[in-house]
Amino acid sequence: MSLIIAIDGPAASGKGTLARRLAVRYGLRHLDTGLTYRAVGHALLADGKPLDDEALALEAARGIDPGALDRTVLSQHSVGEAASKVAVMPRVRQVLVEKQRAFAAAPPGAVLDGRDIGTVVCPDAAVKLYVTAGAEVRATRRYREIVDGGGTADYAAILADIERRDARDMGRADSPLKPAADAHLLDTSEMDIEAAFRAAKAIIDDRI
Ligand code: C5P
Repeated sequence: MSLIIAIDGPAASGKGTLARRLAVRYGLRHLDTGLTYRAVGHALLADGKPLDDEALALEAARGIDPGALDRTVLSQHSVGEAASKVAVMPRVRQVLVEKQRAFAAAPPGAVLDGRDIGTVVCPDAAVKLYVTAGAEVRATRRYREIVDGGGTADYAAILADIERRDARDMGRADSPLKPAADAHLLDTSEMDIEAAFRAAKAIIDDRI
């Protein structure tokens, strides 16, 4: 049987880094499901197509291969914005969720991170984590990431962007971001990645 670990949380909560490390630790594959929505947004942007046409977005979604997504191309800010727009479309979600489930089910199992993994994609996951941190903490982390990488960043703009993304992800009708009833909450506001990893490992080791 495949081991599935579901990790949900808002933008810049640190869930992606955590998911990658946990996948290595437990010998599982990893899927950042945000990349599947980003790939749809990117396909539309690249072809100069509108982001609010569900039929076009659906066609793009059908062409996505979750095992072959290029993070560098998809990490751009404009692609993230496009992703959160197509992610409100129920038929697009349906197509991507099926692909995510197939990825998760293949042996030996996987760590999936996103917004609706514990609630919709893998409701029977062995372990569910909901990783969160205050909006200011998340904005500061993203700011530092950019500045430490040699770039320039505007803290107020980053915070506004995170708050807008939270509102869209938590407020949508289909699969809004929220903890599953049986998820373990992990507030990383006061933790660095090492502490978050140790806390997550303790929860997982207790359950498997
Ligand atoms: O996590 P990331 O910023 O890459 O996700 C981009 C967008 O994709 C999110 O803002 C969200 O709207 C959407 N998403 C989603 N469900 C997931 C993962 C991402 O709706 N499981």
